Amino acid sequence: MFKQPFLDLPPIASAHGTVTLPGSKSISNRVLLLAALCDGATEVHDLLSSDDTHVMLEALKALGCEVTETGVNQVRVVGLNGQLKTKSAALFLGNAGTAMRPLTAALTLMASTQGGSFAVSGVPRMHERPIGDLVDALRVLGGVVTDLGEPGYPPLRLGDGATHALNLAAPIPVRGDVSSQFLTALLLALPLVAEQDVVIEVVGELISKPYIEITLKLLSQFGVQVQRDEWRRFTIPGGSRYRSPGKIHVEADASSASYFVALGALGATSGVTIQGVGLQSIQGDIRFIEAAAMMGADISGGDNHLHVKRGAWPLKAIDLDCNHIPDAAMTLAAMALYADGTTTLRNIASWRVKETDRLTAMATELRKLGATVEEGADYLCVTPPADARAWRTAPIDTYDDHRMAMCFSLAALNPADLPIRINEPHCVAKTYPDYFEDLFSVTTNRPGAVPVICIDGPTASGKGTLSQGVAQALGYAWLDSGALYRLVGVAAEMAGLSTQVSDLADPAHAEKVAAVAANMAVRFDGDRVLLGENDVSERIRTEAAGMGASRVSAIGPVRQALLELQHRFAKAPGLVADGRDMGTVIFPQAPLKVFLTASAQKRAERRYSQLISKGIPAKLDDLLADLQERDARDTNRTHAPLKPAEDAMQLDNTDMGIDESIQLVLNWWQGKQPKT
Ligand code: DC
Repeated sequence: MFKQPFLDLPPIASAHGTVTLPGSKSISNRVLLLAALCDGATEVHDLLSSDDTHVMLEALKALGCEVTETGVNQVRVVGLNGQLKTKSAALFLGNAGTAMRPLTAALTLMASTQGGSFAVSGVPRMHERPIGDLVDALRVLGGVVTDLGEPGYPPLRLGDGATHALNLAAPIPVRGDVSSQFLTALLLALPLVAEQDVVIEVVGELISKPYIEITLKLLSQFGVQVQRDEWRRFTIPGGSRYRSPGKIHVEADASSASYFVALGALGATSGVTIQGVGLQSIQGDIRFIEAAAMMGADISGGDNHLHVKRGAWPLKAIDLDCNHIPDAAMTLAAMALYADGTTTLRNIASWRVKETDRLTAMATELRKLGATVEEGADYLCVTPPADARAWRTAPIDTYDDHRMAMCFSLAALNPADLPIRINEPHCVAKTYPDYFEDLFSVTTNRPGAVPVICIDGPTASGKGTLSQGVAQALGYAWLDSGALYRLVGVAAEMAGLSTQVSDLADPAHAEKVAAVAANMAVRFDGDRVLLGENDVSERIRTEAAGMGASRVSAIGPVRQALLELQHRFAKAPGLVADGRDMGTVIFPQAPLKVFLTASAQKRAERRYSQLISKGIPAKLDDLLADLQERDARDTNRTHAPLKPAEDAMQLDNTDMGIDESIQLVLNWWQGKQPKT
């Protein structure tokens, strides 16, 4: 996951490949709650691991549920059989509506009938998301709910410690036109107390019906068959009881699929395959594919996969009632940037009470890109930028809304080849923590579009620390090219080849060392460096390995052998490469090149304290002499001698702290970004 304050997406040229989606948020949290309420243990497979499921799991544990991780994305939940184990707890539910609403209903009923008291709260935005209609319904049937803040919004206290009889004889009215989650919450909770038939009557037009379908299907998997009359009346038969299905599999998230469906429709290639969700998905958002097809996407698929490629191009503008796909409809708004006219998305008032006011957020951010947007009370009209020249780039705000971040990543396919900055990209963790990694895995960029920052300089100048700091701040990969030359020296020695200058002078011997370099099975795994199965992380960091690297790196064929390997590190979202010739030879087109120096004395002192802190004995004078010898060889060699690129920014950090150097380079980098 990208944890930086922003992520710059390089312009995307095309999309192809296969992506396996994480589990559905809506299904995951419903299944977890049902597993917690029912009798017996339930093994949940392919559970989504995200912020929203995390708060649900924590809440269930706080309620005394036994939850065990039994594998990757797999948990075993031992149900409470509708009986409170803990009579009071304070539950923090973040910004997870799928936890807040159903837990409020279930805990109110259990606390009121069994004598408990629970506080539920969330992040500030959660306290702005309405829950009054659900609370009203719970109060009608005799549940005790106390407002702890503004009436109609969390935080709430559920139950008061005493037992109360519920009145379930009369139909329970609940509004269906603000959020379908209120009805879902009642449907999930009422089977706990359905001694007799319990009837729920929906007041107003029910929105987001497909989510109710998911609820009904899952209830049935847990042994409760709800009777539905149209979308107005729902009857839970008296004597209903939850029973664990033993094992349950969570479908991949159909809303998450929408971004890759869009990507397939936008990229001019063989298309994108999406694994984990198919044409017959139980999730309502699967109907997004009909809308995408109307816009021109060419979609095929099976039970558990979809394949999407470009059909009509440019996309066709549409005018659509999106009530049935409220979440995925946001993706249509992003696709509208590539349509041949004005796209109108109607009946989306529920956007206003989601993670943020999505109508305003979407309109504001689309305008930043050059689109013309009309924001209605419950609709949005999007007219794309007139042509490539009318596209703009600007930092996209995401309002702590995962879908804003994912939708606007699609703007990186813009015809103007502009990079797109996504602020607070980590908000995708709500439903799809690895979204950007997956996006990068199925997209390609035009040659030179992936930004590379080169940091060259002599040994012990602090290149590694500076490069890592810059890479971390930007979410970029880091290439320590010195490590590659160190590896060549070590690998040659492991293969029984000498790295002495006199031996390397023999061209036949040099070719053998180059062949070792070309065939190194090197893998960087976090801080570890592996050569085949051998962990050589420590060995390549020794002074001897540094000297060996300096000798083998003077050989032309060795440098040639490592060229392609180094180029392969330049992948989205970007690369910070450090070494001697990053700016001069390997990435001569890099938009930012830094030449880092410090006095030889200072560098020797830094190396000295580094070694001493690791418990490695060292002598300052020897280090200074070694360092000067390496400087001389690296600078005077024929092949790629150490020197600043002509357009390099010089940075002497003799008297500068690391944070200051990192900030300076980041400022230079910011200066290279397209003006907004
Ligand atoms: O940066 P370092 O100390 O890990 O580098 C080890 C040696 O590798 C250095 O003395 C010269 C060589 N090197 C090189 O020739 N070109 C690079 N891009 C990086 C390192």
